Amino acid sequence: MRRSALADAFDGLPTASAGAGSLTYGELTWASLLQVLRSLSLMLGEARNLTFSDLGSGFGRVVLGVACFDLPSDAAATQYRFRRCVGVEIEPKLHAAATAALQRLTDHPIGGALVGSRVELICADALASSEQWLEGCDVLYVCCTCFDTPLLAKIGSLLDKTLREGAIVITVTQSIPAACLEPVSEIDVDCTWGHAGIIISVCRRE
Ligand SMILES: C[S@@+](CC[C@H](N)C(=O)[O-])C[C@H]1O[C@@H](n2cnc3c(N)ncnc32)[C@H](O)[C@@H]1O
Repeated sequence: MRRSALADAFDGLPTASAGAGSLTYGELTWASLLQVLRSLSLMLGEARNLTFSDLGSGFGRVVLGVACFDLPSDAAATQYRFRRCVGVEIEPKLHAAATAALQRLTDHPIGGALVGSRVELICADALASSEQWLEGCDVLYVCCTCFDTPLLAKIGSLLDKTLREGAIVITVTQSIPAACLEPVSEIDVDCTWGHAGIIISVCRRE
């Protein structure tokens, strides 16, 4: 179900947006997302029922992809790796397209409802809605290649205040300047605009 349902969910929906600066649009390829999820899986071990958040979730491919690739093999099981997959996006048009894709995925006859019920899409400025995506967050993904320095600094300050010890932060191209973050690995992946480095960090508090 997973790949075909995901592809169907996004079929005909936009793939690019004309934003500039911190609103510039770009994504990982599906193959790159799977590569990142494999690295993440090794780090998370047996941990289950976690919360995954995507700050700047755009058209929703990462949030829906994470929920979709995380189906327990036993259909009756409830021990998902990610119990909650949250996306927060500031641009209403991108949020609307992501919501349409989520509806299509939820309507898929094989496991769609199980995937859809674990996804939450929020249309808001992430800086003003952190209680919705940061509290309880275990894994944070930020495709921040084009985020400007002031935005990164504000996100860093939020993470320093709220991110839980042990949480994992995955960023693209640049790190978030937060004292609590310790980079642990880097991988190169393909994105819609070319290659990029993925930086994986862990929240460490003394
Ligand atoms: C490079 S795109 C990443 C899209 C998606 N995460 C992915 O990887 O497929 C970055 C997104 O961050 C959004 N964004 C920028 N500033 C934001 C903010 N303050 N709050 C929420 N979203 C923001 C942009 O509108 C854009 O959709």
